[in-house]
Amino acid sequence: MDTSDNKKKNTLLYNILFVAVGAGILIFLALAPPESTVKLPHDEIHEKFFSMHKKEAEKFCTSCHNPDGDKPLPEGHPPKYRCLFCHKRK
Ligand code: HEC
Ligand code: HEC
Repeated sequence: MDTSDNKKKNTLLYNILFVAVGAGILIFLALAPPESTVKLPHDEIHEKFFSMHKKEAEKFCTSCHNPDGDKPLPEGHPPKYRCLFCHKRK
């Protein structure tokens, strides 16, 4: 086997690898959950948080969204460090 045969083999291998990685990424994206988390509501309570810096706004959230507050987080709520990271403003 001369070197040009080796080169061809390598090229084929890289092509297969390329396709496999591409397919892997597509499958990963297809399986990822859609971004469907409820957005920060536009209402009297929440309107002011749209114009605030995110980290600043997040300091207020748990004053109402706590177990004894106006609207506790639902049971099984995911870890809640950065509210606005998941509950997007639009
Ligand atoms: C003054 C109390 C109060 C504060 C502060 C507050 N909320 Fe709320 N939140 C409520 C109440 C009451 C509701 C339910 C009625 C409504 O949708 O406004 C609610 C509803 C929500 C909902 C659900 C909306 C829906 O469609 O079901 C989300 C998400 C939310 N708040 C996120 C936040 C985030 C994030 C912050 C901080 C930036 C925040 N809230 C600060 C009282 C508050
Ligand atoms: C890791 C992502 C994530 C973070 C961070 C997060 N949440 Fe949630 N939250 C969710 C998901 C998912 C739900 C379930 C309802 C849904 O699918 O939107 C939810 C539900 C809620 C609900 C109830 C909505 C309803 O209609 O019943 C409120 C209120 C809420 N979150 C407030 C908050 C607050 C306040 C914070 C910050 C202290 C916070 N969340 C942080 C993902 C998140």
